[in-house]
Amino acid sequence: MRPIAIFDTTLRDGEQAPGFSMSVEDKLRLARQLERLRVDVVEAGFPIASDGDFEAVRRIANEVREVSIAALARTSPGDIRRCWEALEGATRPRIHTFLATSDIHLRHKLLKSRAKALDTVVEAVELARSLCDDVEFSAEDAGRSDPEYLRTVVAAAIEAGATVVNIPDTVGYCLPAEYGALIASLGDVEGIEDVTISTHCHDDLGLAVANSLAGVLNGARQVECAVNGIGERAGNASLEEVVMALQVRSAELEMETGVNTRELYRTSQLLSSVTGMDVQPNKAIVGKNAFAHEAGIHQDGVLKHAATYEIMTPESVGVPQSRLVLGKHSGRHALAARYRELGYQLSEADLARAYTLFTKLADRKQPIYDDDLRSIVNVGLTVVPTTFALKQFRLVGQSDAVCAVTLGVEKGGALYTGSATGDGPVDAIVRAVNQIVAANGRVLEYSAKSVTRESDAVGEVFMRVDFDGMIVVGRAASTDLNIAAARSYLDAMNKVARLVSRECSKAAAVEFPGIS
Ligand code: KIV
Ligand code: ZN
Repeated sequence: MRPIAIFDTTLRDGEQAPGFSMSVEDKLRLARQLERLRVDVVEAGFPIASDGDFEAVRRIANEVREVSIAALARTSPGDIRRCWEALEGATRPRIHTFLATSDIHLRHKLLKSRAKALDTVVEAVELARSLCDDVEFSAEDAGRSDPEYLRTVVAAAIEAGATVVNIPDTVGYCLPAEYGALIASLGDVEGIEDVTISTHCHDDLGLAVANSLAGVLNGARQVECAVNGIGERAGNASLEEVVMALQVRSAELEMETGVNTRELYRTSQLLSSVTGMDVQPNKAIVGKNAFAHEAGIHQDGVLKHAATYEIMTPESVGVPQSRLVLGKHSGRHALAARYRELGYQLSEADLARAYTLFTKLADRKQPIYDDDLRSIVNVGLTVVPTTFALKQFRLVGQSDAVCAVTLGVEKGGALYTGSATGDGPVDAIVRAVNQIVAANGRVLEYSAKSVTRESDAVGEVFMRVDFDGMIVVGRAASTDLNIAAARSYLDAMNKVARLVSRECSKAAAVEFPGIS
């Protein structure tokens, strides 16, 4: 079996996609889960892009120890040095530098000749290599580059010290046979046997996974991919699809990854809950319907022998059997045992908090499903200190167009109340909270979903809120969607309050003068 390294770019290319930005804490949680998933490399961010990106890479490098941590840099010395500053605490750091090699990028974006670009690559890789033992060079838009020029650049990058050469199909243009041939054409470049060839395929034509597989079939030994296939535009190759294709067809492909496939579903769910973006129900491997059999003939077949219609088992990717688990009389030990079965290693403190949330939920809803328990961990156990807490909530009246709410918000032991009307309950809630705390928050994005399917299901609400230019996300869950919306808005405020208390310069400009 030939080992294929899985390079996860969820936190870098994935996070670049609109609607997928994540806080430092969220990135850290995901990086820890990617470590549990046993990917080979976690690309943690693009340190020069913002202070937040730098901080996320630095913390992941220092705290996630069992995996290589990569970060992206353009070819300028400032980018590369900043990248190294963020990475240097990692057990196995990797600087990932890139420059476009296609004529269309060189002419219209970089305004560089081929010769100048070649020199730039050599200087960048040499500098990166003087700082770090592991350096990846990416030839951006390699898929549309002149193959001869690409070979020259790859050879020069190897000579300058690159340990990995990445051949991105940046715009998702290649067909599988074409992409495979491009990878194969690098096979006799001088020094290629001493480095790893990597694929990085975008999904603009829905071919990212097929192209990645064509890449490994033609000599690549690393695949760059993202959980749920997120990434620029149509996204990157989906990690779970690449990994399961390699596993399900391992006999034919004679390749293997080190990924613990039983963590795939949980990783996908965590990303959805952190970003508020669900995958479509028919998404391969991790979609809600990926293992659902609706047609009578299919159900009959699966009942007689699962392999009739299932090429892999739900268990192999960690999809739980939707089974009824705990009720209000269940104790803390039963809860701890169920969390262990679901694969969560909760600390004593987290278990205690999860148990409190579980008992509150069990008072309102029976039975409690695995998805409810997951929601408790993913949404309820966030580490944001509660500066503002929802204490009272009343939907006063609702007509076709107008809705009125009265809220009580507690801060520091004092209760502040206020009412507002709005165009629907969420609008009224936001206005009421803004009025109580004299804030200027504006909801940029709102999504609500039910965690399980019954009428008393827990609903999760996700919001992206703009507080005077500072964008934060809020999340909360409740059996009452309006209460979840109010808590989600307050969760976003609590994140701002915490940043203000840390005297973060940008956040210090954001205050809530109504409650000081
Ligand atoms: O798509 C791309 O070319 C990239 C590179 C920076 C690797 O994301
Ligand atoms: Zn990309």
